[in-house]
Amino acid sequence: MATTFIESKEEQVSSSQLVPEISNIPKHVAVIMDGNGRWATQRHLPRMAGHERGVAALRRAVEASVQLGIQALTVFAFSSENWRRPEDEVSFLMTLFLRALKSEVKDLHKNQIKLRVIGDLSGLSTRLRKAVEEAEEKTALNTRMVLTVAVNYGGRWDILNAMNKALVASPHLRELKAPVTEDDIRPHLSLANLPEPDLFIRTGGEQRMSNFMLWQLAYTELYFTDLLWPDFDYECLEAAVHSYQMRERRFGRTSGQLAMHADSVPGHAGLV
Ligand code: FPP
Repeated sequence: MATTFIESKEEQVSSSQLVPEISNIPKHVAVIMDGNGRWATQRHLPRMAGHERGVAALRRAVEASVQLGIQALTVFAFSSENWRRPEDEVSFLMTLFLRALKSEVKDLHKNQIKLRVIGDLSGLSTRLRKAVEEAEEKTALNTRMVLTVAVNYGGRWDILNAMNKALVASPHLRELKAPVTEDDIRPHLSLANLPEPDLFIRTGGEQRMSNFMLWQLAYTELYFTDLLWPDFDYECLEAAVHSYQMRERRFGRTSGQLAMHADSVPGHAGLV
């Protein structure tokens, strides 16, 4: 298992520089879990009830991903902009993360799933940061799947953070003797050890990226569904994967090129 694990210390392929290997099951899926509030409101429940059901839906999403053979799942739990929500909702969400981290980590570990949390963790409470550290440490060597949870994360923050780290790591960049390249920045991005997502899913009916993984989603296939996040299940993930399998992934090339070299040029994800 360890030899086929997608996480790597080496730099991953940049989809704007090289054509990555394409498989019929997406290796890495990124998800915006939207619609918790509306799910609750539709049932005359407080918004918090929707977030609680959101945790259960995340558990189902992880199980479904393992069943389908997806190797990395990255979910957007709290954006840099979510601090603008009412104080009691923010505080509830933080308590929910802490509770979920503590209650779910045992099962994740039992199922050989590695947990990672990305984002500006300096904005979180000491207790939450400690729980994150413990959960990451406990699951660090697991190789069945990587679950990455983005908390206090923003795609622009990620790029700027990587740029700033690159400037510290490579002082020659500060002298501006040569143009900054992707290779200078990529190793410092939050998800540098994972391939770029093949498939992006957003539930809740909105069709926007909301500042999620702006760099990494450059060539990702996008899938939007009206289903609200608390209702997410295996069938929904399967439908998204099926839609992905119908896409022609050209990475800048033409359909003609793909058809002419169907044996040697990767392009179509292909049906299972
Ligand atoms: C968006 O729905 C959802 C969030 C901002 C929170 C997502 C959090 C969870 C699903 C819990 C996950 C828990 C862990 C431990 C990672 P919304 O509130 O924007 O819904 P709305 O658009 O209907 O108002």
